[in-house]
Amino acid sequence: MTGFNESRWAMPEFSKEYRDNADVYIADRRKMLDIMKSFYSYFIAGKGNSRVLDLGCGDGILTDNLLEADPSIAATLVDPSPDMLSKAKERLAGFSNIRTVNASFQELIEQDLLQENYAFIVSSFAIHHLIMNEKRLLFRGIFERLSEGGYFMHIDTFLPPTDSLEDWYFHMWSQWVEEKRIELDLEGDLFSDLTRRYKDADENKPDTLEDQMSALKDIGFREVDCYYKYGIFAVYGGRK
Ligand SMILES: C[S@@+](CC[C@H](N)C(=O)[O-])C[C@H]1O[C@@H](n2cnc3c(N)ncnc32)[C@H](O)[C@@H]1O
Repeated sequence: MTGFNESRWAMPEFSKEYRDNADVYIADRRKMLDIMKSFYSYFIAGKGNSRVLDLGCGDGILTDNLLEADPSIAATLVDPSPDMLSKAKERLAGFSNIRTVNASFQELIEQDLLQENYAFIVSSFAIHHLIMNEKRLLFRGIFERLSEGGYFMHIDTFLPPTDSLEDWYFHMWSQWVEEKRIELDLEGDLFSDLTRRYKDADENKPDTLEDQMSALKDIGFREVDCYYKYGIFAVYGGRK
C-alpha cells in the first residue's frame, strides 16, 4: 500500500501546480461539476438532509460548487494534505457549516474518524490513488457512512478495458489539453507528454469503471450507473 506521505501529493509545490492547472489537465471538468450539481439539486436538495462529505477534497472545489446549488449544506471535507486543506478553508471562508478533517483514505479505512452520516458523499480525482482492494474497503466505509437513501458520486480517471481504447482516450485527452493550452495562451512545457506522465506515475492506480461499479453493486448500492464519460474521465455512483 503506498501511503499519502510517500506520494508527490505530500509536496505543497506539487499540489499548487495541480491547483493552478487542473482546468487544463482535466478534460471537461466544468461539465462534470455541472452534472454533480444537477444530481445534487435533483435528488438531494430540499429533502431535509443536506450533510455532504467531500473525500480527497483538495482545495474544496466540489463543495464550493455544491454550495452554489444549496447554501444550506453542512460539509465535511477530508484530505491528508494540510496545504490542500488550508486552501479549502480559504476558499470556503464565507460559509459557516464547514468542517475539515486531515486524514488519508487509508486512515479512514482503518479508523472510524467521521462518526456522522451523510446524504451525499462525493469524491473527485483522488480515489484512483488507491489499489482496487483499498477502493473496495473505502466504498464499504462510504456505504456505512451514508444515510438510508443517500447517494455516493465518484468523479475520476479510469483504466480503459483495452490498450487500443486507452491509446484513443489518451489521444483525445492530449487534444483537449492542447486546445485548452492554446485557448488560455499558456506555455507548452508543463503540458507536454501528460498522458505518459500520468501513466508512469506511481501514485496513479486507476481501475476499470466496470470493476468499480461492480464493487458498488456487491456492497449493496442500488441504482448504480455511469452518469457521464469522456475517454478516461467518468462520473458514476449509486444509492444506499
Ligand atoms: C487531483 S487532486 C483532487 C482534488 C479535488 N478533489 C479536485 O477535484 O480538484 C487529488 C487529491 O487527493 C489527495 N490524496 C492523495 N493521496 C491520497 C490518499 N491516500 N488519501 C486521500 N486523499 C489523497 C491529494 O492530497 C489531493 O488533494
